Parts: sequence; C-alpha cells; structure tokens
Amino acid sequence: EKGGFDTYMLKEIYEQPSALTNTLMGRLHDDTGEVDLDIDLDPSSFKRITIIACGTAYYAGLVGEYLIEQLARVPVEVDVASEYRYRQPLVSENTLVIAVSQSGETIDTLEAIREAKRFGAQTLGVINAKGSSMTREVDDVLYIHAGPEIGVASTKAYTAQVSAMLMLALWLGRARGTLDAEKGAELLRAARELPRLVEESLQPERVANIERIADKYKRARDYLFLGRGVNAPTALEGALKLKEISYIHAEAYAAGEMKHGPIALIDENLPVVVVATESFLLEKTVSNIQEVKARSGKVIAVVSDGDEEAARYADDVIYVPRAHEMVSPVVNVVALQLLSYYTATLLGRDVDKPRNLAKSVTVE
Ligand code: M6R
Repeated sequence: EKGGFDTYMLKEIYEQPSALTNTLMGRLHDDTGEVDLDIDLDPSSFKRITIIACGTAYYAGLVGEYLIEQLARVPVEVDVASEYRYRQPLVSENTLVIAVSQSGETIDTLEAIREAKRFGAQTLGVINAKGSSMTREVDDVLYIHAGPEIGVASTKAYTAQVSAMLMLALWLGRARGTLDAEKGAELLRAARELPRLVEESLQPERVANIERIADKYKRARDYLFLGRGVNAPTALEGALKLKEISYIHAEAYAAGEMKHGPIALIDENLPVVVVATESFLLEKTVSNIQEVKARSGKVIAVVSDGDEEAARYADDVIYVPRAHEMVSPVVNVVALQLLSYYTATLLGRDVDKPRNLAKSVTVE
C-alpha cells in the first residue's frame, strides 16, 4: 500500500508530480490563455477576499494572498480559522471567503465558514477530500485532486493547494481585467511546468544531497527558516514540517524581519535555512545570508540551479530547478519537505504518526 516506499509521507512526496498534474489538468488552456475552474461565483462581484485555514493549509493561503493581490489586485487577508471564527469578521455579500482544507473536516475551518455565511459572505472551498463535510457547506468547491493523503504531515496537499491558489489568481486576474493575456499566458505556461520541475526536484542526486545535509545538522536543537515575498510562506511551511516530524524547534520569519529580533538567536549552533531562489528581491536575501554568516550561523541556502552568486556564502546549498518566481513556492518547498523527512527518519522518528498529532483536527 506504500507502493515500495518506507512511509506514506515519502510516497506522498514522490506522488507530487502526478498529483500536480491532476490539480492542473483540464483547467489551463494554452491556446486561449484562459483558466477554467468550473466555479459559478461571479469573479467581478468581490471587493475583498478572506482566506481561512489551519496549519499547512494556512500557509498555502498566505501564498494565495500574495498571488491574488499581485495578479487580481483585490485586497486579500488571510486568517487562521480558529481566530476568524471568534473575531466577528467584517463581511458583506461582496466578500469572498475561501476556505482551504485538505480533509474538509477541520472543525475550526468549518465553523469559520459557517460564521462567514451568517454574515452573508460568498464562500469557496479549496478542498482535497471528495464529499467531505466542508464541500457541503460552501457555495462552490475547487477540488485540488491530490488524491488521498495519509501521512499526518501534509506534503502533496500543500503543493496542490498552492497550485490551486495560483489558478484562482489567474482566473480572477483574467476575469477582472487586471492580468493581460500575454502575462496570463506566461504564467499559465509556468504553471504547466510544475509537475516536471517537481519531478526534477526529486532526482536521486538532489535527494542524496538533502539527506547529507539533514544528517549534518540533525543534532541541532533549533532551526531558523527565512524567505521573502511569495516564498516567505515557504519558510513557514518548512519550519512547521520540521517541528511536526523531527520535534526540533524551528521558527520562520520573513527574511527582512530577521534584524527585528531573531538575529539575536544566531550563533554557531543555529542552522538557518534561507530560501534564496531567483527573485527580484534576491540581492536582499543574499545580504541576509551574509548577516547570518557574520554572526557564525550555519546557512543552508535553497538556490536556483546554477546561481553561484546566491550559493557563495552558504555552508550548504540545496540547488532546485529554476522556476518562474510566481510558481516557485511549489518547487522550493519540496526541498524543505525532504530536509525534514530525512532529519526525522535519521533521528528515528515515526514520520507517519508523529507524537501528539492527528491527521485531521475535528475537535476544538
Ligand atoms: O485538513 P486540513 O487541511 O484542514 O488540515 C489543516 C491542518 O490541521 C494541517 O495542515 C496540519 O497543520 C498538518 N499536520 C500539517 O502538516
């Protein structure tokens, strides 16, 4: 049932190319540059969007915020469902509330949706599990089609959720006239590349390099993860994954925040994972790397293939396939999934059943 893999988590990491193919399939039309999501809601009726979710799904929502605001120019806020449901949200019929959930059974997200509906919002679920409770509560569903996810640590659902957010951003941008056909077509092509790029991320030499790095730092007590822009959530997701399955304490920050506090943590014992792939802000991230080095921190840099400048100051480098910045969170996170996977297994942890965690949180 694990298809030759030792764990469900590893199987699901390797299923990502096919899961993503299923997420994107039939929805992107190269010829017209249009995105067809079979959503009945009127994309021009929203004045604002609120994304609600928990855990990993919340981080997918943060990527969604970035993409939707950039491409569709609608104000987006993202909230954890457990906060949203109790904070008397400001909602009208011009608000679209998007719930992101793998299981479709998370109680906080379900209750947050109910709250939004009481205030008259339009609701959309970005959901994996067919026929789950949430699919019946929302006005419309965008299935991510990642297939069943058994491992408690979410992997393929995350990359599929992020891809779904990208498609939503493209759909909204095109329908609202903020994204021109040419740019739309460029991003659509970039999205289409995702299954292949993730496949490349899983090449044996790349995986072996990540396993080596995991082994080198597995005794660390703490980890720091940094990323910027559309990859700030990648850092958050990398830290969550490491905490969940290896039980190593990890924190994540938007790289520009480092100076505002976490820099005090840096010493020779702290591995700092920096997502430093191609970006219009890469130079700034590279100076963050130098700042960590100046304080004797250990830098593990996630860098685009061939970018020696970004790799130069790092102690260890994880090269990842080059991807358009807007789609890069899907590619980059795979390296961090593998880093936590190998850290945990080298420490002898049960990654499919991490202590104290349940696959879906159906009680408050
Ligand atoms: O089923 P959901 O997507 O609603 O679950 C949300 C979170 O409970 C879930 O993502 C959790 O954070 C995972 N253990 C992350 O690996």
